[in-house]
Amino acid sequence: MRRRGGAILVEKLYKTWSEIDLGAVAGNIARIRRRLGRGVRLLAVVKSDGYGHGMERIAGAALRAGAAWLGVSNIHEALLLRKAHPRARIMILSAGMAGHAGAIVRHRVTPVICSREMLEAVAAAAARAGTAVDIHVVVDTGMGRIGVWHERALDFVRRAKRTRGVRLQGICSHFACAAERDLAFTKLQLDRFRRVIARAERDGIRVPLAHIANSGAILGLPSSALDLARVGIMLYGVYPSREAVKSITLRPALTLKTEVCFLKKVPRGRSISYCRSYITYRDTSVATIPIGYGDGYSRLLSNRGEVLVRGMRAPIIGNVTMDQTMVDVGHIPGVRVGDEVVVVGRQGDGEITVNEIADLIGTIPYDVMCALGKGVQHRIYVEPADRR
Ligand SMILES: Cc1ncc(COP(=O)(O)O)c(C=O)c1O
Repeated sequence: MRRRGGAILVEKLYKTWSEIDLGAVAGNIARIRRRLGRGVRLLAVVKSDGYGHGMERIAGAALRAGAAWLGVSNIHEALLLRKAHPRARIMILSAGMAGHAGAIVRHRVTPVICSREMLEAVAAAAARAGTAVDIHVVVDTGMGRIGVWHERALDFVRRAKRTRGVRLQGICSHFACAAERDLAFTKLQLDRFRRVIARAERDGIRVPLAHIANSGAILGLPSSALDLARVGIMLYGVYPSREAVKSITLRPALTLKTEVCFLKKVPRGRSISYCRSYITYRDTSVATIPIGYGDGYSRLLSNRGEVLVRGMRAPIIGNVTMDQTMVDVGHIPGVRVGDEVVVVGRQGDGEITVNEIADLIGTIPYDVMCALGKGVQHRIYVEPADRR
């Protein structure tokens, strides 16, 4: 939805919405690409509905900013994206199902492959369609998720290479903890991966695209970027962890807004919300905002989180409920019903980040972004040209 016209309607209908700054996404990609250098292509990871920012629009912004590939979770997302971007290179980053091989071929999607069953299913579907499909073999170098174990990867790569109907376009792996301060295991994974590639090449197998790097690795171990970097969280302007080396400047794309829908004076000694987990310690003003755990705003933020009202921090008091949350605004002059409230993002000199929320509730920013993205689907996209 665009800002003017559409935005007005959304704001009238919905009291809680997100604003997604596509210019921030473009700027983040430009700075990441500059860091990667000319020889490294960028795959924009837009899975899980673009980390909760809306997959199709983020994909469009990423392609315009020079992303060579788009990465999704499954065939469902791939088909939605194919409709929106008919010519884009789309890679499914998870182990697919053999039953989806026909759709993979028909819709020109690139699968990652790590089982004989899937390899044969894709090859058979390609043969039926009289074509050949590019595939990427996944090697498990220590993530312990999908992939052929690195010690046995060469056999599988050889098998893929000689299978008719598929073209070995790439070999990939995934880091388990590249955003941590200690990069010893990340270096070990990279070393294992390089050895698989080198052995394949010694065998005469050309590997056009070797890829393993994610956001944390680009920041902390840039030499791991190889031919293609799969960038997720940094597209959206968020660092993967507190410890991540902040060697690229990022601008968050998401601002999550709501407004004061009810306001009242509350005397000292009153309990607030379910289970009475908060008792006012002074006479104050309490604002109710229409967001809760039903919108992906975690109940663990009860008595912990803060929001911005009139540029100042207002603490959540009492338990977050399904669709409403109470905040203490007694210290903020002039608060009125209808005042804009920022749940994530900047207001005045204040800022609430998804990393802050993640730390408060003991999770990672990815989790916060996906939960809020699923919960709050009323989005206003701000195109670069709309920014004044
Ligand atoms: C296979 C794969 N590659 C790349 C990424 C992107 O990771 P990040 O968001 O840390 O850049 C993900 C995200 O989970 C992934 O699963």
